[in-house]
Amino acid sequence: MSQRETWATRAGFILAAVGSAVGLGNIWQFPFKTSEYGGATFLVVYLVAAIGIGLPAMLAEFVVGRKSNLNAIGAFEKLGFRNWKWVGVLGVGTGFWILSYYSVVGGWVLRYMGGSVTGAYFADPAAYFGQVSAGLDALALHALFMILVVAIVAGGVEDGIEKATKLMVPSIVVILGVLAVWVFTLPGASPGYSYFLSPDLSQLSLSVSFDPLPSFSGPLTDIIPFAVSQAFFSLSLGMGAMITYASYVGEDQSLFGDSITVVVFNSAVGILAGLVVIPLLFVQGIEPGSGGAGALFVSLATAFAELPAGRVVGVVFFGVVLIAALSSAISLLEVVVSYAVDNYGARRPQIAAALGGLIFLLGIPSALDTAWLGWFDTLAYQLLLPVSVLGVLVFIGWVFGRPAVDELLNGSSLGGGVGMTWLWLVRTVVVLGVVLTLALGVQTLFFAENPAIVPPL
Ligand code: TRP
Repeated sequence: MSQRETWATRAGFILAAVGSAVGLGNIWQFPFKTSEYGGATFLVVYLVAAIGIGLPAMLAEFVVGRKSNLNAIGAFEKLGFRNWKWVGVLGVGTGFWILSYYSVVGGWVLRYMGGSVTGAYFADPAAYFGQVSAGLDALALHALFMILVVAIVAGGVEDGIEKATKLMVPSIVVILGVLAVWVFTLPGASPGYSYFLSPDLSQLSLSVSFDPLPSFSGPLTDIIPFAVSQAFFSLSLGMGAMITYASYVGEDQSLFGDSITVVVFNSAVGILAGLVVIPLLFVQGIEPGSGGAGALFVSLATAFAELPAGRVVGVVFFGVVLIAALSSAISLLEVVVSYAVDNYGARRPQIAAALGGLIFLLGIPSALDTAWLGWFDTLAYQLLLPVSVLGVLVFIGWVFGRPAVDELLNGSSLGGGVGMTWLWLVRTVVVLGVVLTLALGVQTLFFAENPAIVPPL
């Protein structure tokens, strides 16, 4: 086998991991899911999940990747557990699934960049979203977004990904920060902050009855699966992206430190986006939760339409969001491409183009109708992501076991006690947390009054 590429610099991996994590999940989805599922209560569950489940799960993916030095599917085999290959396969499938509609939203971002230049959304931002979010326009931009992703992935890991990410991470923090400060000065913003930041503790309740199967009720029934999966989605877990990226990492780098950096940055960007979008919804008198998938686009377009330099700010803002979306989409496609390159000696440009084409096809329903986009998204949140993450956790905790701790500690100055604590947490609390998430997801998908699994035909 030929020499595998590694990251050009030590910072390469961390930048790529942050670039993968920070994306539409934080900027588009996090504010809209937060405003739809309970505001501050959602935020609390999300943060607990990001630190308590996301962080240990990310370490598990890092360990699988670095130990095996292979793509997400090959990794399980290489470690000596052929039977666990399905975890990798499921991850790759989840990535396919998610990227199909992710790219549609990426197309919206492209569209809004153009709209900022021409001022097309200035007259009626809400109607504009309705026009461009679904239909043939959306389809064309979905295609364009996918072409951009394929072009970057075809260029290879170092050229494409490292460069794109270096610029994006600092700019996104700066521009969201500036916007957040500006929103703070607007009249009518303050109820937005209490909605987003001050949790109503009575909402933190969940009851279960057995008949003989468990059935859950209470406010957390919906909040938990969406908030926990939001943490997975936004940390790029559950589809082998972090496995694949960590496979290019040397043994001298501390996985522990890297994972903390990713989680902190990622949550910070999500919260910053929330501090922009949620108060804006209140300023503009949009009921939180009624904004849906359009919350980010409509609220910001309305704001830019009123700003003196709105066009410039709009182009810069959507431009930065585009880079964030691209660097995440790249990681979604990279997982599948690196599998094909490692296993079948496929040529990178060709395989990237072929897979990009298939993903484009899968995204057609989402581009034509936002109800389909919602359905794809719900299935990913309620089922695919939790099952996938659970697979990695059970594998590392209960199957691979002790050797995972040694791999985790390579390149780190932490003692074995920290490693063993991580392993035991993974085996118990973390696995149970995901099992609960999955149980709640399955209930909404299959056993609710209107089962979400029914497609929007
Ligand atoms: N994390 C990215 C975001 O927040 C999306 C993403 C990239 C992703 N890779 C992933 C989601 C892997 C789930 C799994 O936008």
